[in-house]
Amino acid sequence: MSNKILVISGSVSPVETSYSAELTKKFIEEYRKTNPNDTFEYLDLNEVAMASKTLTRATMGNYFNEEDSIKYIKQLKSVDKVIMVSPMHNFNVTALVKNYLDHVLLANETFSYKYSKKGDAIGLLEHLKVQILTTQGAPYGWYLWGNHTEYLKGTWEFVAAKVNTPVLLAGTKTEPLSKLSPTEAVKTIEKEIIAAAQTF
Ligand SMILES: Cc1cc2nc3c(=O)[nH]c(=O)nc-3n(C[C@H](O)[C@H](O)[C@H](O)COP(=O)(O)O)c2cc1C
Repeated sequence: MSNKILVISGSVSPVETSYSAELTKKFIEEYRKTNPNDTFEYLDLNEVAMASKTLTRATMGNYFNEEDSIKYIKQLKSVDKVIMVSPMHNFNVTALVKNYLDHVLLANETFSYKYSKKGDAIGLLEHLKVQILTTQGAPYGWYLWGNHTEYLKGTWEFVAAKVNTPVLLAGTKTEPLSKLSPTEAVKTIEKEIIAAAQTF
């Protein structure tokens, strides 16, 4: 059996110097070793208009339209797995990722309150398995109140996806990682990447 995998990237760095692009490349390389027949679809959020559209009073009325919202929800329903990539921007995911999530987290499409007894939501994407790949300039632990990795994990679990152990490359702006190329920096967490790729 082969799986369809959607790779959603919200980094704004030039691809050649992006730590998260290198992390994604390495993760997919490892994943393919055990899953050679799976197919990949790439969604670079820099290249789609919806990810630059913010929900405001003015845009609210037409925010969840076919082109910006429903199309991407259908895409999530058409794949088996998602790899979600985001660097930390100001203690959270990038605005591209937030705008993407604002468009696809839609009641009765990706989650529902309808059948819930206790008043909590029921996720509607239980077919999905998600791998989170994140980066941040600071080492892990400098400000635990800003945790984009946990935010993404909780958000995907909210829509009932099964989230594999996330991989975080932390400290890209501090030594020693800041002195390394993205390839060398990613190598420092190679074991974690391989372990995650094997369980995804
Ligand atoms: C606008 C902006 C805001 C950032 N905010 C944070 C932050 O709050 N915390 C942090 O640790 N790193 C922060 N960084 C650093 C990035 O997370 C880090 O450089 C990341 O590796 C860049 O993305 P890349 O993985 O595509 O290279 C910020 C970078 C930019 C450009």
